[in-house]
Amino acid sequence: MTDLFSKFDPLIQQRETLLATGVTDPYNLVMEKVISPTVAICNGRETILLGTYNYMGMTFDPDVIAAGKDALDKFGAGTTGSRVLNGTYQGHKECEEALKEFYAMEHAMVFSTGYQANLGIISTIAGKGDYVILDIDSHASIYDGCAMGNAEIVAFRHNDVEALEKRLKRLPPEAGKLVVLEGVYSMLGDVAPLKEMIRVSKEAGAMVLVDEAHSMGFIGENGRGVAEAQGVIDDVDFIIGTFSKSVGTVGGFCVSNHPKFEILRLVCRPYVFTASLPPSVVATAATSIRKLMHGSNKRAHLWENSKVLHKGLRDLGFTLGTVEAQSAIIAVIMPDLEKGAMMWEALLDEGLYVNLARPPATPANMTLLRCSLCAEHSIEQVGEILGRFERAGKRIGIIG
Ligand SMILES: Cc1ncc(COP(=O)(O)O)c(C=O)c1O
Repeated sequence: MTDLFSKFDPLIQQRETLLATGVTDPYNLVMEKVISPTVAICNGRETILLGTYNYMGMTFDPDVIAAGKDALDKFGAGTTGSRVLNGTYQGHKECEEALKEFYAMEHAMVFSTGYQANLGIISTIAGKGDYVILDIDSHASIYDGCAMGNAEIVAFRHNDVEALEKRLKRLPPEAGKLVVLEGVYSMLGDVAPLKEMIRVSKEAGAMVLVDEAHSMGFIGENGRGVAEAQGVIDDVDFIIGTFSKSVGTVGGFCVSNHPKFEILRLVCRPYVFTASLPPSVVATAATSIRKLMHGSNKRAHLWENSKVLHKGLRDLGFTLGTVEAQSAIIAVIMPDLEKGAMMWEALLDEGLYVNLARPPATPANMTLLRCSLCAEHSIEQVGEILGRFERAGKRIGIIG
């Protein structure tokens, strides 16, 4: 018998070597108690959270929690069915209405996760003989959507408008084309030049899908994302998003103005062949989305937090993923995985949680400490975070 697990041997070996150095397993941390969007108890210690996607701090919003409790009482724990059978409740429709209003778009379709939204939309609309043109640093759910479909896949260099244009020009003019972009790329926290990319895509007759997972709620005047901030939201054919970040719960969606959009409810397998979200989840999501429409003060505070942390880390001598703060994600580049894991642990000892990101999730084989800020971090907490980075960085020898 061939052991089907033998393909994982190099990874098992790498992990064992790392853990043999005595470092805590960075992928096995338990949040023993969550006190607020920015503080939890980890290893018995009060810890500032700087590695969640809770950008707008909605997880503990009293209205959001009340809506969830009420739906749990009135509609029960789950739907036990697909959206196309018994799994569409009033709450799912209300959630889709909230999304349509949030984005000022005609159609909204709620999926059980953002991962499934990418999987479903990309694999369904780009079929045999069509092309999906995507940024090489695209999220796994975008790649998996491509793998599930039958279209030809063409990747271009990260955020490179010329490379995108060149690829598009090489494709048959009459072929169906879907350009897939992200507003904010989650590893380095950098923003896409959507305006130029959408222009060259449209000139080539392509449809455009933008995944705004990391910008919804925060970027753009109304929190609609990078396409809104760059003034091109009306040229985007499909926006994909998630409830697992700024919205503060779980779920995914696609919004669009395409006149035939509703047919997707019958042909999109990751929508049809899975159970719908529990009523409490869609109730919390709808309440949160409606509150995010009026979140301009929070958005301004989150920008301030991002800029202060970015400048502070740069002044301390850390190497960062972007020259300026472009989003709520600030990536601190580590020399290698071992040093990265040591720094991650030193920060945890200081009472600070960040994400340790490593290949293949990261571009260019980088090890990153990814910091994601929350609108509920106070400016004092940001100062505290910088102090903890300074102490840990000196102890591990990342900064002088
Ligand atoms: C760009 C991007 N798209 C989609 C997703 C998937 O979202 P979800 O957590 O709802 O599955 C993520 C999650 O990390 C993401 O970063």
